[in-house]
Amino acid sequence: MSWGLQNRVSRLFKDGRTVMLAVDHGYFQGPTTGLENPRRTVTPLLPYADSLMLTRGVLRTSVDPGQAVPIVLRVSGGTSILKELSDEVVTTSMEEAIRLNASAVAVSIFVGSDHEKDTLANLADMVNAGERYGVPVLAVTAVGREMARDARYLGLACRIAAELGASLVKTYYCEDFRKVVEGCPVPVIIAGGKKIPERDALQLASDAVRDGAAGVDMGRNIFQSSNPVGMIRAVRAVVHEGKSVEEAARAFAKPAKPAR
Ligand code: R5P
Repeated sequence: MSWGLQNRVSRLFKDGRTVMLAVDHGYFQGPTTGLENPRRTVTPLLPYADSLMLTRGVLRTSVDPGQAVPIVLRVSGGTSILKELSDEVVTTSMEEAIRLNASAVAVSIFVGSDHEKDTLANLADMVNAGERYGVPVLAVTAVGREMARDARYLGLACRIAAELGASLVKTYYCEDFRKVVEGCPVPVIIAGGKKIPERDALQLASDAVRDGAAGVDMGRNIFQSSNPVGMIRAVRAVVHEGKSVEEAARAFAKPAKPAR
């Protein structure tokens, strides 16, 4: 692994863990609830995010280039909720990612779908490009409606992503999640998934880090919360400070201190 690639990976983590804020949902579902105006949603959350996962369109239009948050640039897409989601292509080149000063790029893989091979090729191509320039690739294990989110399937998808050279993998929390982590030789982070009550989302984050996740890449459970800043602070308390769900929930309820 080159020095540059290691340096970029290290930007994403603090003490081996990360709270990545995912706001890339519009790339296939349009103006997602809570993200209708990305700048308005993202700006107050930035001081609490270890990194920000988004597309180049939202990065250019909605994030001040003067801020310092590391960028995880989504570079696969080309599909919408109206059609087959797994039929993705690479939408943004590695050179563009570097121009945008991305710390990593993110590519979805759809293991078990009709387009499995194409999406794995997208990942492999971006890993090859990333190796040339020292840019890590986050593989996103996307799950189709018909696919089980169990340790066997997610373990398969995560391991394939690591074997193809992903530097980190995003997946879903599941029963026997430790098996997923044990079978994956690179850090695993979890997506939050659909909005659920705040306490349940904090429990999800807590269970995931207890079972070996290196953190979260959470979106809707933060920006669709009634108190997004409180929620991301509570998630940080769980992921970085090892706080219990009860303690974190109290942090959620408190008014925010001035950001760092
Ligand atoms: C999904 O493909 C997107 O990459 C999201 O970034 C990801 O699902 C995480 O967001 P959420 O916590 O809302 O599931």
